[in-house]
Amino acid sequence: MVEAKKPWTSNSWRGHTAAQSPIWPDEAHLTRVEAELAKKPPLVFAGEARRLQEHLGQVAAGKAFLLQAGDCAESFHEGSADAIRDKLKVILQMAVALTYAAGVPVVKVGRIAGQFAKPRSENFETINGVELPAFRGHIVNGEEFTKEARTPNPERLLAAYNQSTATLNLLRAFTTGGFAALSRVHAWNQEFVENSLEGKRYSIIADEIERSLKFMKACGIDMLDDPALQGVDFYTSHEALILPYEQALTRQDSLTGDWYDCSAHMLWIGYRTAQLDGAHVEFLRGVSNPLGLKVGTSMSVDELRRLADVLNPENTPGRLTLISRMGHENIAKKLPELVNAMRSDGRNVLWTCDPMHGNTFKASGGQKTRHFDDILSETSQFFSLLQSLDTWPGGLHIELTGDNVTECLGGGSRLEEQHLDDNYTSICDPRLNATQSLDMAFHVAEFLQGYSAR
Ligand code: PEP
Ligand code: CO
Repeated sequence: MVEAKKPWTSNSWRGHTAAQSPIWPDEAHLTRVEAELAKKPPLVFAGEARRLQEHLGQVAAGKAFLLQAGDCAESFHEGSADAIRDKLKVILQMAVALTYAAGVPVVKVGRIAGQFAKPRSENFETINGVELPAFRGHIVNGEEFTKEARTPNPERLLAAYNQSTATLNLLRAFTTGGFAALSRVHAWNQEFVENSLEGKRYSIIADEIERSLKFMKACGIDMLDDPALQGVDFYTSHEALILPYEQALTRQDSLTGDWYDCSAHMLWIGYRTAQLDGAHVEFLRGVSNPLGLKVGTSMSVDELRRLADVLNPENTPGRLTLISRMGHENIAKKLPELVNAMRSDGRNVLWTCDPMHGNTFKASGGQKTRHFDDILSETSQFFSLLQSLDTWPGGLHIELTGDNVTECLGGGSRLEEQHLDDNYTSICDPRLNATQSLDMAFHVAEFLQGYSAR
């Protein structure tokens, strides 16, 4: 039975335990920052979040595919225009590969313009007998192992807001100002990608797209005039972890009277903050944005049912995206019963695969890494399991960057352990580089072709 919930307000979460909360040494300082943030303009609009929910409803119905991708943690040291552009390029390339090869529209959502907070397995870190608070992402503290950097500082909430604003401003310019027009399909292939096998495969698709557009033009139809090909819809998302920040950016929509968390279009609940009675679930149940929920091996069928009741009581398509993150060794054991339960209940949920977070390990040199083969194995199992359960494998959720980083092993470039230190710049989890990301997209396109050819 679903328990009756107390009425929701934007601060009703404060009556619940918030897992993974930093210990702010100066609460009054935090309160001042919250008041300041609450006066700032929203980053996104309610209407945009509703539009994304409609698109995700199409995904839930099996008519489109969700690509959610970006950094594990955005960094205050790395918000340059080039870095943002290159991340967008690789996401656009992946979307082209998926749409062209599998014939499905791709809904593009970045882990960007707000993905600054990290959950941690330990509250403290000890090095040489010195114990300091764990690094929780730049919205909370700095990664350097000093007392000053590691002490949570509320001013960082304002810095995160400011960087998100600048990032979103640039994304809006790139996605609507010509850069993302399909006529530029070749320009998204970066130099270092172009010479790889994946880059060459991409160039062939880009050539074919250009030829088709020219052919249509010769027939008298200039498709490049079509607004649909002149830009793309691109949405933002992050884990809603730091609730004082999320609450401060929550606004009541004047059109509908509904509440929206205007820090991003889509918010998700992380694996470590999905407690049914916890503050994160309480906060997010009341905002009308589309929501994600990470689903890992510890989630029981009963728990998932109850979470789905609370987070999507009206069973609205597109409202709830379940992000499976099981690890390649566990997905086949755990996922089917959860998918079956959602299906037999008749729930409109969208299943996507995060093949990153269950496949992290330490390399012999101590670096956190993931192997491309494990990532691919989990993704491939996700597709075949969902296919056998008659459920649409709705999307892929990955950590990537447009740079030529050396953080994940394997892939087309066959990155090995001894290369990890060459260009390891992530401040948190290891990301696929642009070539590895494109490689993934081609594999996923093949899985999708297999699905639609059934
Ligand atoms: C993340 O997505 O960066 C993350 C921490 O994932 P999870 O909550 O699934 O561990
Ligand atoms: Co991560």
